[in-house]
Amino acid sequence: MYPKIIEDFVRMCADGYKLGFNEANGGNASYRLAPEEVKKCSEYLDLSDEEDWTDLGVEAPGLSGEYFIVTASGSLMRNVSLDIPGTLGIVQLNSTGDAYRKVWGLEGGRPTSEFAAHILNHSVRKISSGGADRVMYHLHPVNLIALTYILPLEDKVFSKTLWKSMTECVMVIPEGVGVLSWMVPGSKELALNTCDKMEKYKAVVWAHHGLFVTGSSFDDAFGRAHTIEKSADIRNKIIQSGKPVLQEISDDELRNICKSLNLTINEDIFA
Ligand code: 13P
Ligand code: ZN
Repeated sequence: MYPKIIEDFVRMCADGYKLGFNEANGGNASYRLAPEEVKKCSEYLDLSDEEDWTDLGVEAPGLSGEYFIVTASGSLMRNVSLDIPGTLGIVQLNSTGDAYRKVWGLEGGRPTSEFAAHILNHSVRKISSGGADRVMYHLHPVNLIALTYILPLEDKVFSKTLWKSMTECVMVIPEGVGVLSWMVPGSKELALNTCDKMEKYKAVVWAHHGLFVTGSSFDDAFGRAHTIEKSADIRNKIIQSGKPVLQEISDDELRNICKSLNLTINEDIFA
């Protein structure tokens, strides 16, 4: 048995494959380890090589010296539980937050091609969430991707559509979702634009590609992704039925859901 935090990470990867969110090497994940979790992983960590740093291509000084579990580029979520050190690993950022070194796993590989996006989003969410958000998860959910071909690529449109497609959706994204037009996967442009959106949102839609979510725990982040995709599924079924919508959840009803749970709904979405 690996430390619990690694086992929990592996479980999220397996669940992502089982639910069809992560075909082939599609999607990736990372986790910002808390100091006590780093200690629990210490028997696995090799900190002897203090020279071998790889340039990140971006800077995250707020994450100086921090440790991350991250999936390997090209690894299959389906295979993570079968070969943990081959499909994921632990990396540490340097003191200036612009390079990383491998300290465990990632055997024969390197972190995901979206690693720059993961690190920049960790940096932004660490501040926005007061340190609570630790998980970043990228997936390719069928129904949400389908909606990016037929809805305008606007935060307000996607947020309202998802909120109104299933009652519980607003509870996991009361701030709504950010939406980005298509950009090259793994590019610095995609990473920088995603972290701009992450200042405000915990979920960002990548048109014709997928979803990037954060959360304080694996359950929180995965649950957010799962709920968003389920809402998109319901909306697609409504659209595909070809039938007129006779009734739906009103703006005030969405506000009331949040009020009853002490959540702050993002009023900008209604403006
Ligand atoms: P990686 O295999 O490099 O993680 O890429 C998968 C992916 O989904 C890129 O957006
Ligand atoms: Zn992807």
